[in-house]
Amino acid sequence: MEQTFIMIKPDGVQRGLVSEIISTFEKKGFYLKGLKLISVERPFAEKHYEDLSSKPFFEGLVEYIISGPVVAMVWEGKNVVATGRKIIGATNPSASDPGTLRGSFAVEIGRNVIHGSDSVESAKKEIALWFPDGTVNWQNSLHPWIYE
Ligand code: PPS
Repeated sequence: MEQTFIMIKPDGVQRGLVSEIISTFEKKGFYLKGLKLISVERPFAEKHYEDLSSKPFFEGLVEYIISGPVVAMVWEGKNVVATGRKIIGATNPSASDPGTLRGSFAVEIGRNVIHGSDSVESAKKEIALWFPDGTVNWQNSLHPWIYE
């Protein structure tokens, strides 16, 4: 089954949005496979966002991610990468549809509350970076009222 990496950014943690976000993914029918509240250092944040290192917003983005603890999670389920991105909404909250997490809870792109892997390949890389010990690979039982 597919896995994705989801991170509640420091603003989401500070604003008390953790339970709402977890609940949204759980109620959809995805499985929580890994979770930790963690403050990351600058080199780790730079590694996570290394593909964006040439972007003008890179420095601000790294500062934002290291400004407080984040909630790092792995979620599993059918098409969870693409569906997770839909649940999260467009990167810029001004363009996020109402009802999406960013559409409901964010105003500015630089405070957009949550990160979700943008492809299966990035999900694999991000999960390996944030959960290097493989603890997200435990076997859960599938819910027969959600999965055929
Ligand atoms: S890009 O330029 O198309 O690669 O960017 P995008 O895929 O839309 O976003 C990649 C991540 O960069 C964050 N981002 C920004 N942060 C701060 N300020 C500005 N202007 C900005 N533009 C993009 C965006 O939130 C994405 O981070 P994650 O954590 O993946 O959501």
